[in-house]
Amino acid sequence: MENQREQFRSRLGFILAAAGSAVGIGNLVGFPVNAAKSGGAAFLLVYAAFVVIICLPVMMAEMALGRRTQRNPLGAYQSVAGDKSWWRIGGWLALITPFMIAVFYQVLTVWLLGYFVGAVTGNLEAMAQPGYFGQFINSYGVFIYLVVLTAMVGVILNSGVQNGIERLAKVLMPSLFVMLLILTIFVLTLPNALVGVQYYLVPDFGKINLEVVNLALSQAFFSLSLGMGILITYGSYVSRNESVAGGAKMVAAVDTSVAFFAGLLILPAIFVFNPATNTDELSSSSVSLVFSFLPKIFLSLQAVVGYVGASIFASAFFLLVFFAALTSQVSILQVPISAFQDELKFSRAKSVLALGACAALLVIASTVSFGMVNYFTEFTSYAGQTKSFFDVIIDVFYETILPLNGLVICLFAVYRWRRSNLNAEMSVGDAAYQGSLTQKYVNFALGTFIPVVLLFVFVSTVALKFF
Ligand code: PFF
Repeated sequence: MENQREQFRSRLGFILAAAGSAVGIGNLVGFPVNAAKSGGAAFLLVYAAFVVIICLPVMMAEMALGRRTQRNPLGAYQSVAGDKSWWRIGGWLALITPFMIAVFYQVLTVWLLGYFVGAVTGNLEAMAQPGYFGQFINSYGVFIYLVVLTAMVGVILNSGVQNGIERLAKVLMPSLFVMLLILTIFVLTLPNALVGVQYYLVPDFGKINLEVVNLALSQAFFSLSLGMGILITYGSYVSRNESVAGGAKMVAAVDTSVAFFAGLLILPAIFVFNPATNTDELSSSSVSLVFSFLPKIFLSLQAVVGYVGASIFASAFFLLVFFAALTSQVSILQVPISAFQDELKFSRAKSVLALGACAALLVIASTVSFGMVNYFTEFTSYAGQTKSFFDVIIDVFYETILPLNGLVICLFAVYRWRRSNLNAEMSVGDAAYQGSLTQKYVNFALGTFIPVVLLFVFVSTVALKFF
């Protein structure tokens, strides 16, 4: 029996689901860390410019292609270019990339769950100790969180697009906005917060160089969930009464606002809780800021609100990031699931199981690559460094393949699918699109300088990372 393809129930449901995909660890952690390292508001400006000039058109092309073809990324490329075309490689890339990104995202989400449980159970003091993070990620407890998280994600995906993803986003996304706002306001009312606000909002243009520009673009790409076939897949569930351009703009606005507020929460928090913050220490911190640095900061809050207050704050923060990560993770995994359903005609449950089985092995290999199993810890080496299995996934898929996928989708949309078809699809549900400024800009930019910029980012990343 041929199943009707599912659709998001409402425009709001689609926007919240797509925002659920976009808003994730990238916004709440990646963005503040990068802004702190790279000139505060100066980084924000470069980032916001990339969102508008480069990311939005790519986002629209992905969504339109998905809605037109009603397929997963592989099917979408094939149905436009034919079964034998080389373009299918683009489809495979947009299928394998999210699968591999889901592997590393699962590892991070497991840690967030562990830290949330740690904060709730009053473990904040231990979590703030210097060696805690290293011990935690190498403890067998991680596997328990892994099983719990995998079961949660499996149940959500098995409930489908409407009853799983859309329903989850409708509950978690508004809660996330409210929590973020409350935490930010709370931090801003504390003494010394202004130093952090200043550090964040007074631009330091001296920090902007080619590497930072590169970083801002990769950050924007990742944050908006571009180049992974997610928006092709989500586009395939969007009703033909909706405006693709309007939806894309909404999602980009929500995503960028959340990143902005996350900066306004984290940077002042650091200065409130630790007025003697050494900005050098800040500048050298990476994603481990969340797991090593923030617990210390949260613990020092006990001087202001007591241990219980500090634990509540820390729990709320980790819950916030966990929610954001969970809604992103289900979106990433929906890509291969839709491919199993469309291409292999698997049922939803069978797709979830098949995918879970493939992913489990790689997630376990990543989990043990922080010291538990030597083979994965010292998996390979390049550019003069030993790399773990987890490092390789990040370097190859997150840093390198994302811009390549973006490049391929632009070229595909403009030169194979063609602008006339893109325009026709963008006008479905949006009569005002024809002749609009957005249309003129998208038509021009997608076929010209966006691919050039993405090619440049791809080539320079390969050169920097691997040689
Ligand atoms: N956009 C999410 C974030 O900013 O954390 C992460 C993400 C979700 C990346 C979905 C890729 C993706 F396909």
